[in-house]
This record gives sequence, structure tokens and C-alpha cells, in this order.
Amino acid sequence: MCGIVGILSNNEVTPTILKVLKKLEYRGYDSAGIATIFNNKIKRQRAKGKIENLIKQIHRNDLPGNIGIGHTRWATHGVPSKDNAHPHQKGSVVGVHNGIIENFRELKEELLIKGYQFSSETDTEVIVQLCSYYIDQGISNKDAFLKTIDRLEGAFALCFMFDDDDKNLFISKRGAPLVIGFGKNEVYIGSDAVSLTSLIESVIFLDENDWAIVSKNEILIFDQKGNKVQRQKKIVELNNDIISKGNYHHFMLKEIHEQPEVFGYATSGFIDYKLQKINMLNEVKELHGINKIILVGCGTAYYACAVAKYWLEKFVKISVEIDVASEFRYRETYFTKKEYAIFVSQSGETADTLAALRKAKGKVKKIISIVNVTESSIARESDFVLPIKAGPEIGVASTKAFTNQLAVLACLTIKFANIKGLLSDKKNSELIDSLISIPGVISDILSNSKKFQDFAKKLVLSSNVLFLGRGILYPLALEAALKLKEISYIHAEGYPSGELKHGPIALIDSNMPVICFAPYNELFEKTISNVEEVLARNGNILLITDEEGFDLLPTNQFPVIKLPKISNFIQPIIYAIPSQLIAYYTGLYKGTDIDQPRNLAKSVTVE
Ligand code: M6R
Repeated sequence: MCGIVGILSNNEVTPTILKVLKKLEYRGYDSAGIATIFNNKIKRQRAKGKIENLIKQIHRNDLPGNIGIGHTRWATHGVPSKDNAHPHQKGSVVGVHNGIIENFRELKEELLIKGYQFSSETDTEVIVQLCSYYIDQGISNKDAFLKTIDRLEGAFALCFMFDDDDKNLFISKRGAPLVIGFGKNEVYIGSDAVSLTSLIESVIFLDENDWAIVSKNEILIFDQKGNKVQRQKKIVELNNDIISKGNYHHFMLKEIHEQPEVFGYATSGFIDYKLQKINMLNEVKELHGINKIILVGCGTAYYACAVAKYWLEKFVKISVEIDVASEFRYRETYFTKKEYAIFVSQSGETADTLAALRKAKGKVKKIISIVNVTESSIARESDFVLPIKAGPEIGVASTKAFTNQLAVLACLTIKFANIKGLLSDKKNSELIDSLISIPGVISDILSNSKKFQDFAKKLVLSSNVLFLGRGILYPLALEAALKLKEISYIHAEGYPSGELKHGPIALIDSNMPVICFAPYNELFEKTISNVEEVLARNGNILLITDEEGFDLLPTNQFPVIKLPKISNFIQPIIYAIPSQLIAYYTGLYKGTDIDQPRNLAKSVTVE
């Protein structure tokens, strides 16, 4: 969480810092700030709320200088306020920080005893004051910075400047992402490479515990032991168009509509169309020694794991354990070195998922990650990386990343089932063909959004919504509820339809919409009997089914959305689209901040 930027240029840096901050806003948006150095003086402006507020506050010539840093915040220590906004400054030192300093209380205590006073509740100010304390001891900027990071426990990416040095930025990375980008005449520091697209031609991704002194002419990178190291410079291939909204009002809607195309990117990387086989993890020749697959993620990525459990158990006939990363990392787990542990994360930087991966490392047979950002920490720490190729996902609500995670997990299922010799050629081709059909089916659904808008209108005034699904559609009920919660702020729950009568049915009345996913499959009849139970209690059912299911509906007393006929295998992927559209339009009608819902951030890099 939090986005940080630093720029060294021959020109004024403030306008560009603001532009980059806008692109980093997905990481947090409760306050923002900039500092520059001009004539050996630190100039600083901070504002509560989004970058727009900061932009309005800055007057011409407020922040001159060819070196500067900026920050957009997602509050961890202290409320969103101007005082808590970064950059923090003490004396000659000014800095921005992403992460959490676990020992900040001890350090603060130490500084308070020495007579230092604090103007914010943040852990970041403690870092800056500590550095300033070392400067007061008469040591160099570099040594003060080093002594400071040496004292820090926790996760951080830092970018610091000193008022007597307008040539160098001091940066450090431990457990939070940080890149150095190279433009024609400028050097940039950023929390990610995507926010710097259009400004840079190449990029260096720092390794864990790296720190560096960055100037326009020279980049000095050191490892934790202080050894000078070289890190590979990579050419940036991202095109700026993919991180603009194009003709859409929101990134979320754009990303929903990108799904037919990007789903194809995910699968075409793994499907050998000519041989009708899955080309992934070709190093894995047999699964004899493996008796369990562990799947871990957070939020939407976790629900992708939950869908995969149904697929893997059915087609690979293997025991599958799933967990949310924040539980997995602290739960007492029993490993036998006979497991594959799979970590699913769009960003590849989610702190809990990364910690869960580190917990499993060395204790399971292999670590596989399924990520969108292939340069991320989770990818780098895995034995095998399966990219989902969704392109940058900017909307806080995950949409195309979810369907692409499912694309990769579906391919993985087919691959493992083949390795175990569990699929006939006919079944194998059927499954692959169903994946190939998905872009067309999604396009079809997206071409008529009116019915989803109508559903959404029925939800706008509700305080609670229940989503029901059975079998492999149960995780979709959970995902749909999460999507609706985060975008519309309406309380929503996902439930397995069969579980309704064990408690939640007490909530049913005519005021609470119950959205039921009922595709035609082996559980259709059972799902419909659960629908009847809701109707018998005056429940307000909205049903989503397919052509086959529609023809079998016993009554027509409730609104129904009819999706195209599809194979059972791809049902969870296709039913993600209605969930996303219903959440999007409900948010739109309620007038919420769809791409940046309150209290959230795209990349949760703190615990
Ligand atoms: O980057 P990750 O996939 O690891 O992120 C995991 C969750 O934070 C994320 O899916 C979150 O739940 C989304 N806001 C859901 O729309």
C-alpha cells in the first residue's frame, strides 16, 4: 500500500511527480504530498484526500526544483490527515515510505527520551527523525541513512533526500516493491514500473534488502552487507494506452470489457492448439510423489483458489487444501514435502501471500505462483511462475485478473490430469475447446449489459444482499458478494445454497434480494429447491441461469438472466461476468467511487 515516487531531472519535477502520483493512486488515496529541494531548502506540500486536493493546493512556484519525492498514502499508523501525510521532514532530512515499521514504538520512545518531538502519528516520521538524529551526530547523509535502515524492523520501501544535496536520492527496499526507471534525461524511483510507463525506457527491479544512492549520472546499488551489486536493467514494454481509461468512465468497466481479449492471452500462452495439449510446467513429468495441493491467496485470488479446488479434486483426483494467506501464515500446518503449494496473487506483492509462501518454502516439494506481475516478489521467490497476462489492472476491484487466474488454474488442472493419465483424448479436447470458447461467450454477455443494469437497479436501495451458489458456483457467490461490498458498500454475503436452512434463511424477507447462480449442471435441481424455499418465505429472488436451466425453471415469479449454454467446466469463469457487472452498475447508480472505493487499496503490501 502507499505509492512512492522520486525524480531527478534537468527540469522542474513537480508536474511529473503529480502525474506519477495519479497513476500510483490505486495503491492508496487518503492523503498525498510532495517535497522538492531548491537552493538547499526543502519545499513541501501535503493534503488530505486524493491527489486532486494536493493539485488544487499547489500554487505556481510553490515547489521548484529538479529533484523531488512524492507519496500517496493508505493509512496504517494514524488517521488520514495532513499531519500524517508524507513526505515527513525533520531538519535537513525528508522522506517517503511504503510499508510498516514494526519496531517504530521502541525507536520513537528512544527519540522522545532524547528530546525529539513528533508532529504525526506515523511510523514514517520516526524513520525520518532517526535519520535526522544521526545527522545531528555529525555523520554523512549516506552513513545516517544506512544507520537508520539498519535499525528498522518490518517492511519498507524508502526514498529520502537531504537539503544540502540536490543530486542524490537515497532509497532502500525490504519487503515492499521499489524500482528505478530510466528516461531520456531523467531518473525515476517508483513503487511500480507501470506508473512510470511513458516516462521510462528501461527499469531496474531492486532485490530484497538492496539500498542505493541514485543520481542522474550514476546508480550505486548495494546489498544488505554493503557490497556493491549490479542489478539487471530491463527494457520497458508497457504501452501507455493500457493504463488509461480509454473511452470508459471507469477502469473497472474497461477491465471488465478487456476480458475476452486478455483471457485469450492467458490461455494462448499455455494451449498448444495444434496438438490439443497444455504446455506448462513441462519439467513436471509425474505427480506420483505428490499427495496434496495447497492453494493460498487473499480476497478475489483466494476465491480463484476455491474454484480450483473443485476442478483439481474432480479431474486430478488429488486432495486440495485452500486457505486465505493471513490464516495460512500463522496456522500450525503439517507439511510432508509431498505437496505442491500454489500462491495466487494479481499484484504478486500482497504481504500475507508473500509471508505464506515464505512459510511453505523448503517444506513443500515445489512452490508455484500464479501472478499478473511477473517481476513481483511472489514470482521471484517461486520455483515456477505461471503468468496470467491480464495486463495492468488499475481498478481496485479485481475483475480481469480473476478470470485470468481461473484461466491458468483451468489449464493447470488439465495438465495435471493428463500427467496422471486421467483424461481421455476426447475429454481433454472437450475441456480445451471449452476454454477456447470463453472469449466469444464473454463478448456475447458483455454486448447486452441492460439486463445487469436492471438487476442492479433492484439492489440500489437494499442494505443487504445474499448470493447463493452450489458446488463450483459457491466460490462465485463469495466473489460476487465481495465485489458488491467493495464497489457499492452494500452488505453482501455469499452462501452455499444448501446451507441456507442452517441459519441464514432466518434473514429472508421481501426486502432482501437473494441472487442465485443456478447454471444447468448436476446440482441444478437441488439449487432450484433452495430457491423454492426462499420463495416460500416471501424472498426476493433474482436468478442467473443458462438456456438449458431457463427451460426447466418451475415458475416465472422472479427476474431471470439467461446466459448462453456453456459446458460445466467453464461455468465459474462465465458466471464471474454477471457478478462484476451487477457490482459495477450498483456502484454506478449509488454514485460510489468505483475505481477507488473508500478505505481500500489495490495492492495490500502491509499485513
Ligand atoms: O494482488 P492480490 O491478488 O494478491 O490481491 C488480493 C486481494 O487484495 C484482492 O483480490 C482484493 O480482494 C480485491 N480488491 C478484490 O476485488
